[in-house]
Amino acid sequence: MDRSLRKLEHIRHALSAQEMEGSVFDDVRFVPNSLPDSRYADTSLICDLGPFRLSSPILINAMTGGAEQTTQINRKLAIIARERGLAMAVGSQMAALRDPTVRHSYQVVREEHPHGIIFANVGAEATVEEAQAAVDMIEADGLQIHLNVMQELLMPEGDREFRGYLERISSIRESVNVPVIVKEVGFGMARSSIQELVGIGVDLIDVGGKGGTNFARVENMRRTEPLVMFEEWGLSTVESLLEASCATGLTTQFIATGGIRNGYDAAKALALGASASGIAGAMLKCVQTMSLEECMEAVDMWHHQIRIVMTALGVKRVSGLSEQPLLITGKTAELARLRGIS
Ligand code: FNR
Repeated sequence: MDRSLRKLEHIRHALSAQEMEGSVFDDVRFVPNSLPDSRYADTSLICDLGPFRLSSPILINAMTGGAEQTTQINRKLAIIARERGLAMAVGSQMAALRDPTVRHSYQVVREEHPHGIIFANVGAEATVEEAQAAVDMIEADGLQIHLNVMQELLMPEGDREFRGYLERISSIRESVNVPVIVKEVGFGMARSSIQELVGIGVDLIDVGGKGGTNFARVENMRRTEPLVMFEEWGLSTVESLLEASCATGLTTQFIATGGIRNGYDAAKALALGASASGIAGAMLKCVQTMSLEECMEAVDMWHHQIRIVMTALGVKRVSGLSEQPLLITGKTAELARLRGIS
Protein backbone atom coordinates (compact mmCIF):
# COMPACT_ATOMS: atom_id res chain seq x y z
CA MET A 1 0.00 0.00 0.00
CA ASP A 2 1.02 3.58 -0.74
CA ARG A 3 2.83 5.10 2.28
CA SER A 4 0.81 8.36 2.15
CA LEU A 5 -2.45 6.44 2.34
CA ARG A 6 -1.10 4.42 5.26
CA LYS A 7 -0.23 7.64 7.15
CA LEU A 8 -3.80 8.85 6.73
CA GLU A 9 -5.23 5.52 7.87
CA HIS A 10 -3.05 5.62 11.00
CA ILE A 11 -4.41 9.07 11.83
CA ARG A 12 -7.96 7.90 11.11
CA HIS A 13 -7.79 4.81 13.33
CA ALA A 14 -5.47 6.03 16.11
CA LEU A 15 -8.18 7.66 18.19
CA SER A 16 -10.43 4.59 18.19
CA ALA A 17 -7.44 2.36 18.97
CA GLN A 18 -6.70 3.87 22.39
CA GLU A 19 -6.69 1.57 25.42
CA MET A 20 -9.87 2.60 27.20
CA GLU A 21 -10.10 0.39 30.26
CA GLY A 22 -8.44 2.28 33.09
CA SER A 23 -4.87 3.44 32.78
CA VAL A 24 -1.54 1.73 33.25
CA PHE A 25 -0.73 4.61 35.58
CA ASP A 26 -3.57 3.66 37.99
CA ASP A 27 -1.20 1.06 39.49
CA VAL A 28 1.18 3.84 40.57
CA ARG A 29 0.48 6.14 43.51
CA PHE A 30 2.53 8.75 45.28
CA VAL A 31 2.98 8.63 49.05
CA PRO A 32 1.43 11.92 50.21
CA ASN A 33 3.30 14.49 52.27
CA SER A 34 1.17 16.60 54.62
CA LEU A 35 4.07 18.91 55.51
CA PRO A 36 5.82 19.57 52.18
CA ASP A 37 7.29 22.96 53.25
CA SER A 38 6.85 24.20 49.67
CA ARG A 39 5.49 26.96 47.45
CA TYR A 40 3.81 26.46 44.04
CA ALA A 41 5.78 29.48 42.79
CA ASP A 42 9.08 27.71 43.57
CA THR A 43 8.37 24.78 41.24
CA SER A 44 10.08 24.80 37.85
CA LEU A 45 9.34 22.69 34.79
CA ILE A 46 12.75 23.37 33.24
CA CYS A 47 14.60 20.08 32.99
CA ASP A 48 17.40 18.25 31.21
CA LEU A 49 16.88 15.41 28.79
CA GLY A 50 20.35 14.13 27.99
CA PRO A 51 22.05 17.04 26.20
CA PHE A 52 18.79 18.98 25.79
CA ARG A 53 17.64 21.70 28.17
CA LEU A 54 13.81 21.63 27.98
CA SER A 55 11.30 24.20 29.26
CA SER A 56 8.84 21.38 29.91
CA PRO A 57 9.18 17.66 30.60
CA ILE A 58 6.28 17.03 28.17
CA LEU A 59 7.18 16.37 24.55
CA ILE A 60 4.92 15.94 21.55
CA ASN A 61 5.96 12.57 20.22
CA ALA A 62 6.28 11.29 16.66
CA MET A 63 3.08 10.98 14.73
CA THR A 64 2.81 12.17 11.24
CA GLY A 65 3.92 13.69 7.95
CA GLY A 66 4.24 12.06 4.54
CA ALA A 67 0.92 13.06 3.02
CA GLU A 68 -0.30 16.48 2.00
CA GLN A 69 -3.24 16.22 4.42
CA THR A 70 -0.88 15.72 7.38
CA THR A 71 0.75 19.13 6.87
CA GLN A 72 -2.04 20.91 8.77
CA ILE A 73 -1.76 18.48 11.70
CA ASN A 74 2.01 18.99 11.92
CA ARG A 75 1.55 22.76 11.62
CA LYS A 76 -0.91 22.81 14.53
CA LEU A 77 1.32 20.56 16.66
CA ALA A 78 4.33 22.78 15.93
CA ILE A 79 2.45 25.95 16.90
CA ILE A 80 1.42 24.33 20.21
CA ALA A 81 5.03 23.23 20.75
CA ARG A 82 6.31 26.74 20.02
CA GLU A 83 3.74 28.54 22.18
CA ARG A 84 4.15 26.21 25.14
CA GLY A 85 7.88 25.49 24.86
CA LEU A 86 7.57 21.77 24.13
CA ALA A 87 10.08 19.61 22.28
CA MET A 88 8.48 17.82 19.35
CA ALA A 89 9.19 14.87 17.06
CA VAL A 90 7.87 14.49 13.52
CA GLY A 91 6.48 11.17 12.26
CA SER A 92 8.59 8.70 10.30
CA GLN A 93 10.35 10.48 7.43
CA MET A 94 10.95 7.28 5.45
CA ALA A 95 8.15 8.44 3.10
CA ALA A 96 9.90 11.75 2.36
CA LEU A 97 13.27 10.07 1.88
CA ARG A 98 11.72 8.04 -0.93
CA ASP A 99 9.39 10.77 -2.29
CA PRO A 100 10.70 14.36 -2.04
CA THR A 101 7.28 15.82 -2.97
CA VAL A 102 6.00 15.15 0.59
CA ARG A 103 8.94 16.79 2.40
CA HIS A 104 7.04 19.95 3.20
CA SER A 105 4.61 18.01 5.43
CA TYR A 106 7.59 17.60 7.83
CA GLN A 107 9.44 20.85 7.11
CA VAL A 108 6.37 22.82 8.17
CA VAL A 109 7.33 21.91 11.75
CA ARG A 110 10.68 23.72 11.49
CA GLU A 111 8.99 26.64 9.69
CA GLU A 112 6.51 27.11 12.54
CA HIS A 113 8.99 26.39 15.32
CA PRO A 114 12.31 27.79 14.08
CA HIS A 115 14.09 27.79 17.44
CA GLY A 116 12.48 24.75 19.09
CA ILE A 117 13.93 21.36 19.91
CA ILE A 118 12.75 19.14 17.06
CA PHE A 119 13.48 15.45 16.56
CA ALA A 120 13.68 13.70 13.19
CA ASN A 121 12.32 10.15 12.89
CA VAL A 122 13.30 7.11 10.82
CA GLY A 123 12.88 3.35 11.06
CA ALA A 124 15.73 1.02 12.03
CA GLU A 125 15.92 -0.06 8.38
CA ALA A 126 17.29 3.39 7.45
CA THR A 127 20.85 3.67 6.15
CA VAL A 128 23.34 6.09 7.70
CA GLU A 129 22.85 8.43 4.72
CA GLU A 130 19.05 8.31 5.04
CA ALA A 131 19.27 9.02 8.78
CA GLN A 132 21.45 12.10 8.19
CA ALA A 133 19.16 13.24 5.35
CA ALA A 134 16.15 13.04 7.70
CA VAL A 135 18.00 15.21 10.23
CA ASP A 136 19.02 17.74 7.56
CA MET A 137 15.50 17.85 6.08
CA ILE A 138 14.12 19.56 9.19
CA GLU A 139 17.35 20.85 10.78
CA ALA A 140 16.65 18.46 13.64
CA ASP A 141 18.29 18.67 17.05
CA GLY A 142 18.06 14.92 17.61
CA LEU A 143 17.14 11.76 15.69
CA GLN A 144 14.57 9.21 16.76
CA ILE A 145 14.93 5.68 15.41
CA HIS A 146 11.70 3.75 15.90
CA LEU A 147 11.42 0.02 16.56
CA ASN A 148 8.05 -1.48 15.59
CA VAL A 149 8.57 -5.15 14.77
CA MET A 150 5.09 -6.29 15.84
CA GLN A 151 3.38 -3.47 13.95
CA GLU A 152 5.28 -4.37 10.75
CA LEU A 153 4.37 -8.03 11.16
CA LEU A 154 0.68 -7.16 11.44
CA MET A 155 0.71 -5.01 8.30
CA PRO A 156 0.06 -7.03 5.14
CA GLU A 157 2.59 -4.75 3.38
CA GLY A 158 4.93 -4.57 6.41
CA ASP A 159 8.58 -5.66 6.75
CA ARG A 160 9.42 -9.32 7.37
CA GLU A 161 13.17 -8.86 7.77
CA PHE A 162 14.51 -7.54 11.06
CA ARG A 163 18.16 -8.62 11.03
CA GLY A 164 21.03 -6.31 11.85
CA TYR A 165 19.02 -3.58 13.60
CA LEU A 166 21.43 -3.17 16.52
CA GLU A 167 24.45 -2.87 14.21
CA ARG A 168 22.62 -0.38 11.98
CA ILE A 169 21.54 1.75 14.97
CA SER A 170 25.12 1.67 16.22
CA SER A 171 26.48 2.88 12.84
CA ILE A 172 23.85 5.62 12.63
CA ARG A 173 24.71 6.74 16.15
CA GLU A 174 28.40 6.91 15.29
CA SER A 175 27.81 8.83 12.05
CA VAL A 176 24.99 11.34 12.46
CA ASN A 177 25.77 14.75 13.89
CA VAL A 178 22.97 14.81 16.52
CA PRO A 179 22.07 12.68 19.58
CA VAL A 180 20.11 9.49 18.85
CA ILE A 181 16.92 8.40 20.61
CA VAL A 182 15.73 4.83 20.08
CA LYS A 183 12.00 4.42 20.63
CA GLU A 184 9.28 1.81 20.64
CA VAL A 185 5.84 2.75 19.34
CA GLY A 186 3.54 1.42 22.07
CA PHE A 187 4.72 -2.16 22.68
CA GLY A 188 7.20 -1.28 25.45
CA MET A 189 10.74 -2.52 26.06
CA ALA A 190 12.13 -5.30 28.19
CA ARG A 191 15.35 -4.91 30.11
CA SER A 192 17.31 -7.16 27.70
CA SER A 193 16.56 -4.85 24.74
CA ILE A 194 17.25 -1.78 26.88
CA GLN A 195 20.55 -3.29 27.98
CA GLU A 196 21.57 -3.97 24.37
CA LEU A 197 20.81 -0.38 23.38
CA VAL A 198 22.65 0.94 26.44
CA GLY A 199 25.55 -1.31 25.40
CA ILE A 200 25.97 0.47 22.06
CA GLY A 201 25.85 3.87 23.76
CA VAL A 202 22.45 5.11 22.56
CA ASP A 203 21.97 8.62 23.97
CA LEU A 204 18.30 8.32 24.93
CA ILE A 205 15.70 5.53 25.00
CA ASP A 206 11.97 6.09 24.74
CA VAL A 207 10.36 2.97 26.20
CA GLY A 208 7.18 3.59 24.14
CA GLY A 209 4.98 1.35 26.25
CA LYS A 210 1.54 -0.16 25.99
CA GLY A 211 -1.39 1.67 27.53
CA GLY A 212 -2.34 4.34 25.01
CA THR A 213 -2.35 4.04 21.23
CA ASN A 214 -2.45 0.33 20.44
CA PHE A 215 -0.81 -0.22 17.05
CA ALA A 216 -1.83 -3.86 16.92
CA ARG A 217 -5.42 -2.60 17.10
CA VAL A 218 -4.72 0.11 14.50
CA GLU A 219 -3.38 -2.51 12.08
CA ASN A 220 -6.26 -4.89 12.80
CA MET A 221 -8.70 -2.05 12.05
CA ARG A 222 -6.98 -1.40 8.72
CA ARG A 223 -7.36 -4.98 7.54
CA THR A 224 -10.29 -5.94 5.35
CA GLU A 225 -10.17 -9.61 6.37
CA PRO A 226 -10.80 -10.18 10.10
CA LEU A 227 -7.71 -10.81 12.19
CA VAL A 228 -7.96 -9.51 15.69
CA MET A 229 -4.74 -10.60 17.31
CA PHE A 230 -1.75 -9.45 19.32
CA GLU A 231 -3.54 -6.51 20.92
CA GLU A 232 -2.23 -7.74 24.29
CA TRP A 233 1.39 -7.90 23.09
CA GLY A 234 4.04 -5.96 24.95
CA LEU A 235 4.82 -4.26 28.23
CA SER A 236 3.09 -1.19 29.60
CA THR A 237 4.93 2.08 29.95
CA VAL A 238 5.07 1.63 33.72
CA GLU A 239 6.35 -1.94 33.38
CA SER A 240 8.95 -0.80 30.82
CA LEU A 241 10.20 1.94 33.16
CA LEU A 242 10.56 -0.67 35.91
CA GLU A 243 12.52 -2.82 33.46
CA ALA A 244 14.70 0.21 32.65
CA SER A 245 15.41 0.71 36.35
CA CYS A 246 17.20 -2.68 36.31
CA ALA A 247 19.55 -1.85 33.44
CA THR A 248 23.16 -1.51 34.52
CA GLY A 249 26.04 0.70 33.44
CA LEU A 250 23.59 3.44 32.58
CA THR A 251 24.71 6.51 30.72
CA THR A 252 21.37 6.59 28.97
CA GLN A 253 18.34 8.60 30.05
CA PHE A 254 14.75 7.58 29.39
CA ILE A 255 11.65 9.08 27.86
CA ALA A 256 8.29 7.59 28.85
CA THR A 257 5.64 7.48 26.14
CA GLY A 258 2.52 5.35 25.95
CA GLY A 259 -0.81 6.09 27.60
CA ILE A 260 0.11 9.43 29.14
CA ARG A 261 -3.17 11.36 29.16
CA ASN A 262 -2.41 14.31 31.39
CA GLY A 263 0.10 15.95 33.73
CA TYR A 264 -0.62 13.56 36.59
CA ASP A 265 0.35 10.55 34.42
CA ALA A 266 3.39 12.49 33.20
CA ALA A 267 4.44 13.19 36.82
CA LYS A 268 4.15 9.48 37.66
CA ALA A 269 6.35 8.60 34.67
CA LEU A 270 8.94 11.14 35.83
CA ALA A 271 8.79 9.67 39.34
CA LEU A 272 9.43 6.23 37.81
CA GLY A 273 12.73 7.53 36.45
CA ALA A 274 11.89 9.05 33.06
CA SER A 275 13.56 12.37 32.24
CA ALA A 276 10.67 13.42 29.99
CA SER A 277 7.15 12.26 29.16
CA GLY A 278 6.06 11.89 25.55
CA ILE A 279 2.46 12.27 24.45
CA ALA A 280 1.13 11.16 21.06
CA GLY A 281 -2.48 9.87 21.03
CA ALA A 282 -3.81 12.34 23.64
CA MET A 283 -2.19 15.20 21.71
CA LEU A 284 -3.65 13.95 18.42
CA LYS A 285 -7.06 13.89 20.06
CA CYS A 286 -6.60 17.53 21.09
CA VAL A 287 -5.60 18.75 17.63
CA GLN A 288 -8.33 16.71 15.93
CA THR A 289 -11.17 17.80 18.19
CA MET A 290 -10.20 21.20 19.63
CA SER A 291 -9.21 24.70 18.54
CA LEU A 292 -5.59 25.80 18.80
CA GLU A 293 -6.50 27.92 21.82
CA GLU A 294 -8.17 24.95 23.56
CA CYS A 295 -5.18 22.70 22.81
CA MET A 296 -2.89 25.21 24.50
CA GLU A 297 -5.23 25.38 27.48
CA ALA A 298 -4.99 21.58 27.71
CA VAL A 299 -1.17 21.79 27.79
CA ASP A 300 -1.41 24.54 30.45
CA MET A 301 -3.55 22.18 32.52
CA TRP A 302 -1.03 19.32 32.13
CA HIS A 303 1.74 21.67 33.30
CA HIS A 304 -0.43 22.81 36.20
CA GLN A 305 -1.04 19.18 37.21
CA ILE A 306 2.70 18.43 37.26
CA ARG A 307 3.32 21.50 39.42
CA ILE A 308 0.50 20.49 41.79
CA VAL A 309 2.23 17.13 42.33
CA MET A 310 5.59 18.84 42.83
CA THR A 311 4.17 21.32 45.34
CA ALA A 312 2.25 18.65 47.24
CA LEU A 313 5.42 16.56 47.57
CA GLY A 314 7.76 19.46 48.31
CA VAL A 315 9.77 19.02 45.10
CA LYS A 316 11.10 22.09 43.27
CA ARG A 317 12.76 20.46 40.27
CA VAL A 318 11.36 17.85 37.90
CA SER A 319 14.33 15.58 38.59
CA GLY A 320 13.36 15.55 42.29
CA LEU A 321 10.24 13.53 41.46
CA SER A 322 12.35 10.43 40.87
CA GLU A 323 13.46 10.51 44.52
CA GLN A 324 9.88 10.21 45.79
CA PRO A 325 8.63 6.91 47.23
CA LEU A 326 5.93 5.24 45.12
CA LEU A 327 3.30 2.61 45.76
CA ILE A 328 3.03 0.08 42.93
CA THR A 329 -0.03 -2.16 43.03
CA GLY A 330 -2.14 -4.48 40.85
CA LYS A 331 -0.92 -6.16 37.68
CA THR A 332 2.19 -3.97 37.58
CA ALA A 333 3.26 -5.12 41.04
CA GLU A 334 2.64 -8.71 39.93
CA LEU A 335 4.85 -8.28 36.86
CA ALA A 336 7.56 -6.60 38.94
CA ARG A 337 7.52 -9.60 41.29
CA LEU A 338 7.71 -12.08 38.38
CA ARG A 339 10.59 -10.14 36.85
CA GLY A 340 12.45 -9.88 40.16
CA ILE A 341 12.18 -6.07 40.36
CA SER A 342 11.97 -4.74 43.91
C1 FNR B 1 2.51 7.24 16.06
N1 FNR B 1 3.74 6.81 16.57
C2 FNR B 1 4.86 6.88 15.74
N2 FNR B 1 6.11 6.66 16.25
C3 FNR B 1 7.22 6.78 15.47
O1 FNR B 1 8.32 6.63 15.98
N3 FNR B 1 7.08 7.09 14.14
C4 FNR B 1 5.87 7.30 13.56
O2 FNR B 1 5.77 7.59 12.37
C5 FNR B 1 4.71 7.19 14.37
N4 FNR B 1 3.44 7.37 13.84
C6 FNR B 1 2.37 7.48 14.68
C7 FNR B 1 1.13 7.87 14.16
C8 FNR B 1 0.05 8.07 15.01
C9 FNR B 1 -1.25 8.53 14.45
C10 FNR B 1 0.20 7.87 16.41
C11 FNR B 1 -0.94 8.09 17.37
C12 FNR B 1 1.41 7.44 16.91
C13 FNR B 1 3.89 6.28 17.93
C14 FNR B 1 3.97 7.34 18.99
O3 FNR B 1 5.11 8.15 18.85
C15 FNR B 1 3.95 6.72 20.41
O4 FNR B 1 5.13 5.99 20.62
C16 FNR B 1 2.77 5.80 20.65
O5 FNR B 1 1.60 6.30 20.02
C17 FNR B 1 2.45 5.62 22.14
O6 FNR B 1 2.13 6.86 22.73
P1 FNR B 1 0.60 7.32 23.06
O7 FNR B 1 -0.11 7.48 21.73
O8 FNR B 1 -0.01 6.23 23.86
O9 FNR B 1 0.74 8.63 23.77
